[in-house]
This record gives sequence, C-alpha cells and structure tokens, in this order.
Amino acid sequence: MPKKSATKKEPAVSSKKAPPQIAPPRGMRDILPAEQGFWDIARKACISIASTYGFERIDTPIVEETALFVRGVGKQTDIVEKEIYSFETAGNEKLSLRPECTASIVRAYISNGMLNQPQPVKLWYMGPMFRHDRPQRGRYRQFFQFGCELLGEMDAVCDAQLVIISYLILKELGIDAVVRINSIGTPESRVNYKNALSSYFRSKRARLSEEDRKRLTKNPLRLLDSKDPAVIEMKAEAPQIVDWLDEDSKAHFMRVLEYLDEINVPYQLDPYLVRGLDYYTKTVFELFTASEEDEATQSALGGGGRYDGLAEILGGRPTPAAGFALGLDRVVSKLKELNPQIEPNKVEVFVAQLGEQGRKKALMVFEELREAGVKTGEAFSKDAIKAQMEIANRRGAAWAVIIGQKEVLDGTAIIRDMDSGTQEIVDARKIVQEIKKKLGHG
Ligand code: HAM
Repeated sequence: MPKKSATKKEPAVSSKKAPPQIAPPRGMRDILPAEQGFWDIARKACISIASTYGFERIDTPIVEETALFVRGVGKQTDIVEKEIYSFETAGNEKLSLRPECTASIVRAYISNGMLNQPQPVKLWYMGPMFRHDRPQRGRYRQFFQFGCELLGEMDAVCDAQLVIISYLILKELGIDAVVRINSIGTPESRVNYKNALSSYFRSKRARLSEEDRKRLTKNPLRLLDSKDPAVIEMKAEAPQIVDWLDEDSKAHFMRVLEYLDEINVPYQLDPYLVRGLDYYTKTVFELFTASEEDEATQSALGGGGRYDGLAEILGGRPTPAAGFALGLDRVVSKLKELNPQIEPNKVEVFVAQLGEQGRKKALMVFEELREAGVKTGEAFSKDAIKAQMEIANRRGAAWAVIIGQKEVLDGTAIIRDMDSGTQEIVDARKIVQEIKKKLGHG
C-alpha cells in the first residue's frame, strides 16, 4: 500500500524573477463557485417563466458581422460609436463581439427562414454580451443577459406580455420592480418630434456639453439619455413625445397600458424614456427596483420594447416584433442583497471517516447516499475528524455519518446530530434508510 511521506517537499527556490501576474481584462471578472448558487436561482426563474409563456431557447454566435450591429443597433448610438469590440480576422472578416442579442435574434430569424413557421416565433436566450463602457458598480464590459424576443406579431397584448414576463421573473426572485414605460411611435411620427426637441435644445445650446451638442445635430433623441445634470434639468420642460404620436401608436400604447392594469403590474409613465438603441418603435420600457440609489445611478435591471422595423433594416421581410433583456449581473446582485442567507452549496448529510478502513467504507456509503438522492458532502482527503466536522458545519449538514476502524469491524456507523452533538450507532446496512427517515425523505 502506498505510504504518505511524512515531510512535504518544499518547492524549489528559483533565482529567476517571477513573471508578472495576469489579471482579467478590465471590467470583466470571474464568477466564483460561492456565487454560482445565486446565478442558478436567477437562471432557473428566467427559464421557468419564459417557458410557461411558450418561449423556446435559441443560441446564436457570440461574434457576428460588425455590420449587423451598425445597421441594427444604430450607427449613432453609444453602443456602436464607443462601446463595440470589433476586430478583423486573418480572413479579412470584420467581426464584433455582440453588445446585445436582439439584432442577432432577428438575423437568426431571417437566416433560418423562421418566417415560414407559425407566428409569432417566441425565443429566449442567455449569455455574455460585451460593451467597452466605463466600468463601475453594476456596469461591466462582459455582462450577462437573459432575453425574450417575440417575432411576427404586432398586437399590443404581446408588448404587455413581455412587460409582464420580465416583471414576473423579478417578482419570482423576490425583487420588487417598477416598470417605466413610454411609446416612441413610428419613425415617421418621430420626425416632427425630433424637430420640436431640436429647436427646444437649440435655444439652450450654450449650456450643452461638447458631446451633447454633437447629439443635438446628429440625433436629438439621444439628448434625453444624457447623464449630464444640466440636461436632466432642461429635460423637465422639453416637449414630450406622447404629444406627437400618430393615432395608431397612441391606440396601441393605450391598449398595452390597459393590459398591464388588468394584471396589476405597477408602472410609471416616463415621457422621456427613449432607450439607447435605434431600432425601437412604439412601446419602450425599463425595469428598476424601487430603491432611490438604483434610480439615481440609472441602473436598470432590464429593458425592452417593440422593434417593428428591424427585420427590414437587416434585409428581411417586414416583421413586427418585440422583446426585452434582463441584466443578470444586476439581478444577481439584487438577489444577493435580499437573500444573503442563501447557502447555495448546502448538503443534507456529511460522510466522515477515520482511518484507512473507515475511508474505504465511507466511499461506498457516500455513493449509496448519492444514489438515493440525498445531498451528501465529504472531505475524503482529510484525516482528522475535527477538520471534517468543520467542513460539515460550513456546508450546513444537519447530520453526519461517521465511520472509523471500530465501526467497520462491528458492521455499524455513527450518526451524529450536527446541531446537538448527540450520536447514535446504527447497523451499517441501514445507514441510507436511517438518514432518509431523519431527513423526512419519502
Ligand atoms: P439594454 O437596455 O441595452 O437593452 O440592456 C438590457 C439590460 O442589460 C440593462 O437594463 C442592464 O440591466 C443590462 N446591461 C446593459 N449594459 C450592461 C453593462 N455594461 N453591465 C451590466 N449590465 C448591463 C438591450 O440590450 C436590448 N437588446 C433589450 C431588448 C431585447 N430590446 C428588445 N428586445
């Protein structure tokens, strides 16, 4: 039998200078095991609610042709102007890491001829997105979204359902969200509004920053997204888009709100919500927690809206569509804040051993418990019982099964109540049965 050497070898001391450590890219991070339980809970809530509403999973490539985002998201948006990670491959392809997934989904709908399937096509996706933004709390350069897109249907009930789904996912996670909602009409009806907005801000041009002056010339709607406190103040008196909506957009919006009233989804009308992507038409919305801090930092948990013109912009047939995406990093952070007590890697029972014979028997008992569906923990590489009991406590085990040399010889095992410390001896053949009884498993 191989023996453990008593002294561990010291690592050889090298005269060479240690190479510099490599950190993750700025604004990107590792999601460590201790956090994964929260992510699992968030992902499960998203998938279960989206599936209930008939959405099916789709995965699209993380890189796409740069032109997809330039045309889809919009050339003059912050995302495309400043934040997109683009590169040219050895084969001279111009590709970009996806900054969002809606354009990719519409591309996939067109590429795969989904127009010929029964409409609407309802898809969900989950995965990393990339934006070269200034990193700060809740803002990363690689972040994760869960999104739902509903393509091929223009009825207002779909817009309302998407708002409801995003709201319900957050509710399921114990997050009380408020929906901010607006309608930005059709591109045609927006022309007059843009003119009105433009002349309003032109009269206040002197107070605008260099960047906002550029926005004023290129796309005055983007001024409504400005984070500059002076612009936020000016916004209060600015013309409101609702006053410029065409009749159809107005009626559509009224119906969306009526459906939300019907289901008691709390919402606030936000006449200046325009969103930072160019593809939206009619309904736009964002989800916030009721916390003032989140409102002040403008960190929405999610957002979405209708984008009836996008398929055509991307070379497809006209296809009405709407969707939303939740920012999972922000959702998980909220979930953690609300439930710090969640112990994701909890076990029900811990199998501990003493001595080599005990270890061999314990390996077997661990397998039997696992196969019986009991969440079981172990630390087979540890020798000392004290160290094993510490791990059992850390992992939240209510019971421990302890097997030493004596128990192996007697054909027994010790079952320890981890709370009270009381112990009993049971027949080794009945360990699983006894544990299941104590745990109340059927
Ligand atoms: P978005 O508002 O750009 O919309 O992003 C949706 C959510 O992703 C945000 O509300 C936020 O929670 C999260 N998010 C965005 N950027 C970051 C970041 N840098 N770090 C962390 N989280 C972030 C879209 O992406 C649209 N595609 C949504 C959509 C789907 N519209 C229609 N269908």
